[in-house]
Amino acid sequence: MLKNDTLIRALLRQPTPYTPVWLMRQAGRYLPEYNKTRAQAGSFLELCRNPDLATEVTLQPLARFALDAAIVFSDILTIPDAMGLGLHFADGGGPRFERPLREEVQIRDLVVPEPDRQLRYVLDTVRQVRKALAGSVPVIGFSGSPFTLACYMVEGGGSADFRTLKTMLYRRPDLLHHILDINCRAVIAYLNAQVESGAQAIMVFDTWGGTLGPGEYREYSLAYMRRVVEGLAREHAGERIPIILFTKGGGAWIEDIAASGCDAVGLDWTVDLGAARARVGKRVALQGNLDPAVLLAGPEAVRDRAAAVLAAYGRGNGHVFNLGHGVSQHTPVESVAALVEIVRRLSPQFH
Ligand code: CP3
Repeated sequence: MLKNDTLIRALLRQPTPYTPVWLMRQAGRYLPEYNKTRAQAGSFLELCRNPDLATEVTLQPLARFALDAAIVFSDILTIPDAMGLGLHFADGGGPRFERPLREEVQIRDLVVPEPDRQLRYVLDTVRQVRKALAGSVPVIGFSGSPFTLACYMVEGGGSADFRTLKTMLYRRPDLLHHILDINCRAVIAYLNAQVESGAQAIMVFDTWGGTLGPGEYREYSLAYMRRVVEGLAREHAGERIPIILFTKGGGAWIEDIAASGCDAVGLDWTVDLGAARARVGKRVALQGNLDPAVLLAGPEAVRDRAAAVLAAYGRGNGHVFNLGHGVSQHTPVESVAALVEIVRRLSPQFH
């Protein structure tokens, strides 16, 4: 039994006494204790692969702030790594793959990983986090979207324009669809295994879907997320498992995302929450959408802007407070403390 089920209730658009809050990348480099544990692990990837230490960093932000959820500490790139692409992180830099998907034979040889084998360390972390939380708040499991994973797999890392991926999309759409089909099956198996291991809500991160045109977004990103939603267990041990879809830069397509069958849509800060709410009606809950850069400006700016986000959504159920993207490593810890406090203090008047 969950002692604090505010997040789950809000995602299902049920009444809550206040607006629940959690933050994308709530565990990370802005916290000195995270940096300490990461140094102890040796590297970010070793931290992800060590369930004891990954559990420790998952819980660190909850020890400091009255957050309404934990998100399992891991990365979206564990799936392509388990497919054998060879993930590493350049020191202080972004992710790189040793063997990006460039040749047709590599793409035809791709195999869906078995979560219990190649991704067991993530499932062990989910189980340990769930146990350590002892029902205090729910644990969120996650994955990248099939399209966002493909971006990194084809490009070999981050990119300003994902031109290798886009060249494939326009020149060899059959190859990209093959990758997306494999990714989709991998994501479904991985997320269902996280639910089996104790995840109580699921979030799909589509960080790069917003770089596509509308037709391409529907065909290469949303269609596969809809398949993911259809393939997920929506109930486990008698509890509903809500699903959140987040396309960064997807503000133009909120209605389409809401029609996918998901329970909630994550929004970045380029969207007005009130307008978004009017567009989706009672179909889904909304999660977001404070600009993470506000946190850099300190507690006073945070209080003003967080109040504006609450007011933009307005009265009633179905809002989960979050940032519009992850917490920056340059964020002062006091800003996060101020944010969580102000949401808790101001939000009851909206319920
Ligand atoms: O939210 C959480 O607290 C859970 C942990 C989490 C991480 N990555 C830890 C992480 C989650 C949910 C992710 C998702 C993720 N990973 C996404 C989707 C969300 C988004 O940010 O758009 C993406 C695109 C990735 C891939 C990735 N991982 C990148 C591009 C980078 C480098 C950028 C950076 O911030 O350094 C990472 C590394 C990463 N993932 C870090 C953390 C805490 C920093 C690594 C470190 O400690 O050195």
